[in-house]
Amino acid sequence: MSCATCHSPEHAYGPPNGLAVQLGGQKLDRQGARAVPSLRYVLNRTPIWHKEYIANPAERILEGEEPPTGGFGWDGRFNTLHDQATFPLLAPNEMANASPEEFASKLQRASYSSEFRKLLGGQIFADPTKAYSQALLALESFELEDPSFQPYSSKYDDYLDGKVQLSDREQRGLALFDDSKRGNCASCHRDSRGADGSHPIFTDYEFEALGVPRNPEIQANASPNYYDMGLCGPLRSDQSREQKYCGLFKTPTMRNVATRAVFFHNGRFHSLKEALRFYVRRDTDPRLWYPVSPAGAVKKFDDLPNALRANVDLIDEPLTRHEGAAPAWNDREIEDVIAFLKTLTDRDVLRPSNP
Ligand code: HEC
Ligand code: HEC
Repeated sequence: MSCATCHSPEHAYGPPNGLAVQLGGQKLDRQGARAVPSLRYVLNRTPIWHKEYIANPAERILEGEEPPTGGFGWDGRFNTLHDQATFPLLAPNEMANASPEEFASKLQRASYSSEFRKLLGGQIFADPTKAYSQALLALESFELEDPSFQPYSSKYDDYLDGKVQLSDREQRGLALFDDSKRGNCASCHRDSRGADGSHPIFTDYEFEALGVPRNPEIQANASPNYYDMGLCGPLRSDQSREQKYCGLFKTPTMRNVATRAVFFHNGRFHSLKEALRFYVRRDTDPRLWYPVSPAGAVKKFDDLPNALRANVDLIDEPLTRHEGAAPAWNDREIEDVIAFLKTLTDRDVLRPSNP
């Protein structure tokens, strides 16, 4: 297993298949905890994790604290890519190296170890701790500098550069994506250029609780006491006392999203259409998504303990409606938005094969 097993270069460094979570470990039979994010575009843009106002006074929220922002992972628990890489390398359900020393001795036997020696000196493997930390820095440099992480080769990039027009359908989709009363997607998945003219990445790197339904494909969810609550744990441990952070996950990019076969942190949805229907019908048709008790009551936001369900976003459109109200988009409009999102696919990206 390599990093590329899960972050496939042919799939925008996202998952190569439609599994909700990938398999890893010594025998490649242990589930990971979360869906694999694409590593394209975000790595050299993600700010370090913070919850104080730092950058843009225009965005300041009057109630006080800024929404938490930044860091790597769905829960933002790593601030650097060299720290982040320690997790998959040593996680028993991912690459399952027993220790940094074991990793260094495997590296020493790898076909490319001579390049490593050439760069870092013939004695580098005499000190396994140093070899390990140099390997982490090499991974980080690759992720930050290799052009394959940010090709900007989508139709939308050509459109921003004035080289092509969007079709009528794509234009309608973009308008719905932007419309603050109906789609409001761009309020979090930002789609305008940066002040320096840079092309948008389609995320604000902020954390939100969307109330994505529990996913029975994840074996850990068979235990009624297990909840993946993102920012407040259990994978992340430093914010576990902050109840208001339970259920919050970091906003992902929309670039190459139309090529994925797994959506949201727990991989609960397997088509873009379903993911978009969830947004516009979460509240108008909750019975489509959540369990219903024998007495007929629907248990919304069932992937959080009862007491924490109030953390779920009910204030940002299109997540504000009541059961039975009209959804923000009809099915034709969903198809328009999908047409727009397809313009965010880079030229080289393949569709995942289904397992
Ligand atoms: C078994 C599958 C698997 C393997 C192997 C794997 N990853 Fe990941 N990667 C994931 C998952 C799942 C996440 C989300 C983790 C989380 O939120 O806790 C992730 C997240 C990341 C992120 C954070 C991205 C972001 O936008 O926040 C980076 C960077 C990353 N991986 C790099 C690597 C590198 C480098 C390697 C090899 C050393 C690697 N991964 C190996 C599954 C994998
Ligand atoms: C309030 C901020 C916010 C708004 C508004 C918003 N999103 Fe999201 N989006 C998120 C967050 C946060 C996630 C990840 C949530 C999770 O996994 O639990 C996400 C995830 C997604 C995903 C899954 C992507 C992946 O790689 O798994 C899609 C697709 C998506 N959003 C599309 C949309 C569309 C379309 C709209 C407009 C109808 C929209 N979003 C509005 C914050 C937002």
